[in-house]
Amino acid sequence: MRFDDHRVVITAAGRDFGRTLAIRLADLGAEVFLSARSLAAAERVRDEIRARGHRHVHAHACDLTDPASIRDFATGVAQRTDRVDILINNGARYLHGPDLLSASDSDVVDTIASGATGTVLTVKSFLPLLLNSDKPDVVTMVSACGTAGHHRSDAHDAFYAAKSAQAGFTEILSKRLRPQGVRVISLYPPDFDNPDPLSEDWESTPRKAKDALTAQSILECVLFAVAQPRDCFIKAFHFEQV
Ligand SMILES: NC(=O)c1ccc[n+]([C@@H]2O[C@H](COP(=O)([O-])OP(=O)(O)OC[C@H]3O[C@@H](n4cnc5c(N)ncnc54)[C@H](OP(=O)(O)O)[C@@H]3O)[C@@H](O)[C@H]2O)c1
Repeated sequence: MRFDDHRVVITAAGRDFGRTLAIRLADLGAEVFLSARSLAAAERVRDEIRARGHRHVHAHACDLTDPASIRDFATGVAQRTDRVDILINNGARYLHGPDLLSASDSDVVDTIASGATGTVLTVKSFLPLLLNSDKPDVVTMVSACGTAGHHRSDAHDAFYAAKSAQAGFTEILSKRLRPQGVRVISLYPPDFDNPDPLSEDWESTPRKAKDALTAQSILECVLFAVAQPRDCFIKAFHFEQV
């Protein structure tokens, strides 16, 4: 599976799963436009990828709570390419705590803004570039918390709200963009382990039936979905919890 002819945008790629996506997609030949809340974090990952011999990787700043920052990210990408083939909405602030009163008002605002509003505005800003592609995909890392009736996470209610908003957005978007050839693919994982893709743990993390879900498996789901021929529109991945 190679992605040599793919131009991929990834949000929140300064660490954890976004960084994993950026490193692995670049390894597979994609041109990667990665963003992080701070430019320095994005540049660190860009440099890690360049050190692996991949020249086609670009670093951008994008604060998902700031509409102007999202627009600037899209404008910056548009200065380098006239099309985007895959947009991965990876970014969302996590907020812990099952007690509604445990979070400050600004934590609540920030959590919902980064996950919900940020995702909507990112797709809005990148849609013109996606529509210039002959194979456009929008991939969104939602969460089991975005599944109706889910209650097994200790995430804060605001995180549940943000993820439910992402789920509602991608659900309607999937139908509305299909006539224009855009696949909208959403993943609803429970908590998963996030080993460093450049560490030995990446190869040695247990992945048996009784083990927790891993970033390796989530990555493989993403790669599988976007590699399918265009008649195969995988809309959502749901996972049975351990
Ligand atoms: N890991 C899991 O168990 C799990 C399970 C289900 C779903 N997910 C979803 O999968 C995605 C990636 O997960 P993860 O484990 O890598 O998440 P994570 O470790 O919680 O990292 C969150 C990422 O979002 C970024 N972020 C937070 N607020 C931001 C903002 N305002 N603007 C831009 N970026 C912002 C963070 O950047 P900073 O470094 O600047 O803070 C970080 O890169 C997230 O959407 C998450 O909700 C994860």
